[in-house]
Amino acid sequence: MDQLFNLHFFMISLLFSLIVVFLGYSLVVFRHKPGEEEDGAYIKGNNPLEIIWTVIPLGIVIYFAYLGSVSLAETRRADPQALEIKVVAGQWFWRFEYPDYGIVSNTMVMPVNKQALLKLTSLDVIHSFWVPEFRVKQDTLPGENLVRELRLTPTELGEFKVRCAEMCGTSHAYMESPVRVVTQAEFDQWVQDQLAAIGTDPVARGEVWARNNGCLSCHSVDGSPNVGPTWKGLYGLTHELTDGSVVTVDDEYLLTAIVNPNAQVPKGFAPGVMPQIYKDTIPEQQILEIIEYIKSLK
Ligand code: CUA
Repeated sequence: MDQLFNLHFFMISLLFSLIVVFLGYSLVVFRHKPGEEEDGAYIKGNNPLEIIWTVIPLGIVIYFAYLGSVSLAETRRADPQALEIKVVAGQWFWRFEYPDYGIVSNTMVMPVNKQALLKLTSLDVIHSFWVPEFRVKQDTLPGENLVRELRLTPTELGEFKVRCAEMCGTSHAYMESPVRVVTQAEFDQWVQDQLAAIGTDPVARGEVWARNNGCLSCHSVDGSPNVGPTWKGLYGLTHELTDGSVVTVDDEYLLTAIVNPNAQVPKGFAPGVMPQIYKDTIPEQQILEIIEYIKSLK
């Protein structure tokens, strides 16, 4: 893509300068001078010249069309061995699911020189997946029938960032996640670490689910204010709701707050901000473990 861009840029600059130079030259040299009253010379045409300035640009355009088609075909080329990564965008986080390994992560890790098949979707509004170094940008759209596909083959090791490139609300500017391109061996190790980290402790697992599902984009765990109520010390609190009633934050309240967030909105927080989607997108066991994690944050 960069080569194609540079080649186009070079050719456009060359043609532009040529035209501007001739135009400037003509304006100065052939300008109307005092005392000149006769018409200019009548030139009927010049066949060789017209053939040359038709054939050369035509050849250049056809050549660029050929290069463009080759590049486009390469971006569409489907490798059957491609690593599938489901990219889920939400307000305001990225989540990366690796269905082949059963891993969910908030960091996108990709083995170098291996094609990744990204399946992009959104939980709420339109976001846009943009990794500038990868030279790709793709909108993510809400709706199960609107999964977008993107094929990428990272060729350089390194740390990058995926940013959201579509205005999507309050924290749009902060909607970014790390992207790491690693060797195949490092990728395999990362998979093992992820599977090991999930472990068996419900609190530790709950923390993983909370992080991977984007809960912590809006809820702090250290008491600092954020879009949603902090989780620190939340369990056992007495909440006054927007409808004036008073509830105690227990397991049942937390479950409702996650699967049906607008049923009981605490005073001081706007209804409708937390999307009503987690019921369908997080397995129930994970929700229960997230609640265990919240309970542990005394
Ligand atoms: Cu998501 Cu901007």
